[in-house]
Amino acid sequence: MTDKSQSIHGQWSSRFTFILAATGSAVGLGNIWKFPYITGENGGGAFVMVYLMCILGLGIPIMIAEIMLGRRGRQSPINTMRSLATEAGSDPRWQYLGWAGMIAGFLILAYYSVIAGWAMAYIVKDFFGSFINSDAMEIQRLFDNLMASPFQQIFWHTAFLIITMLCVMRGVQNGLEKAVRFLMPTLFVILMLLVAYAMSSGGYEQGMAFLFHADFSKLTADSILTAMGHAFFTLSLGMGAIMVYGSYLPNNVSIAKTTFFIAGADTVVALLAGIAIFPLVFANNLEAGSGPGLIFQTLPLAFGHMTGGWLFGLLFFILLFFAALSSSISLIEPAVAWLVENNNMDRPTASLWAGAACWVLGIGVVFSFNIWSDLKLFDKNLFELLDYLTANMMLPLGGMAIAIFAGWIMQPKDAEEELELPAQGFQIWQFLIKYVSPAAVFLVFLHVLGVL
Ligand code: PHE
Repeated sequence: MTDKSQSIHGQWSSRFTFILAATGSAVGLGNIWKFPYITGENGGGAFVMVYLMCILGLGIPIMIAEIMLGRRGRQSPINTMRSLATEAGSDPRWQYLGWAGMIAGFLILAYYSVIAGWAMAYIVKDFFGSFINSDAMEIQRLFDNLMASPFQQIFWHTAFLIITMLCVMRGVQNGLEKAVRFLMPTLFVILMLLVAYAMSSGGYEQGMAFLFHADFSKLTADSILTAMGHAFFTLSLGMGAIMVYGSYLPNNVSIAKTTFFIAGADTVVALLAGIAIFPLVFANNLEAGSGPGLIFQTLPLAFGHMTGGWLFGLLFFILLFFAALSSSISLIEPAVAWLVENNNMDRPTASLWAGAACWVLGIGVVFSFNIWSDLKLFDKNLFELLDYLTANMMLPLGGMAIAIFAGWIMQPKDAEEELELPAQGFQIWQFLIKYVSPAAVFLVFLHVLGVL
């Protein structure tokens, strides 16, 4: 095992920077783009309720576990899992968990960067005044035009990946640390502003009822799986992103407190996004279940009509871009750290290889919105397939494996030493991680398979 106090890749300069980076990883397209649209597709309230329960019962304990494993292993997830398994006298094949996570991160980034590209395209659209006084039809047409153009989407996807790779190359401390510091608070303010606008839009009550009135009869097995998968996705869990960030964490930081902060901030941002969007959906007679285009079909309406909308729109899409950037960096970091450790590559070369691979797959994702939109497997196009495979399957299964490792394989005294929780807190965490988290994931999968 390597030196236990620090990773070879460097270390966060303080607890605060770790919080920023981990919050930056958690808060992203998942909160502002994905949460609203899957809530719309899955009928609202009941879905939101299941999602919140999963954040509490699965997300928080597993995030604590994942940060803890990372900090103890101090290497890329693959090598961390191998050395921790060896330390606990278990099978080194636990490293495959690191492998699966690295692959999941790569598959997610391939479509994540396409969607982030849409956000970049919308910065430009806002800048040229495309939303000013536009009605729902015109806004829809703008979005349809972007979807129909492989060229535009590939252009922005490429631009986004290049920027991501440039940040990743610069390493732990120089990368995004400084930017995230003021971006997160600003994003929060803009969201509040959008919420205020939504309150006056005429659809507020209907929007709130849709989000928070739980009608459990609408909930299908697949919706439950999607809600659970999203809890992992939005907190960046189950694939090693938070683990690799944890590996750069100084030893004297309280993991549990930090986790509560990150999960809290992440949830607030998602709920605010929902509260800003659904009133607009109902006020303008739009379709709540219209899919991945939802925020691009609704928010520009607000920007086109509110005072100062041009500026706020510009800020919003710029911030969305940065939120996506700070997440995408963490999606690729496990792969980059591993390439550096095992293949003697320097960071720039490792970033380049990882980015190039994502770029190629991303082209396929772009095509799935136009020329390949009819190409389907299990009734899903390539984008839907990648999303389902990663968010609904790989992340929950990865999270379950992390819970099993932290709860059953690792020595309890080692976990206790890392977490430094009060006795009762530790017992609650242990109970959740040993029994509740693995069982919950397992039961949801049985339910989806129709066994339960
Ligand atoms: N949590 C990020 C978001 O909500 C996405 C992500 C998933 C990032 C998994 C890293 C790992 O946008």
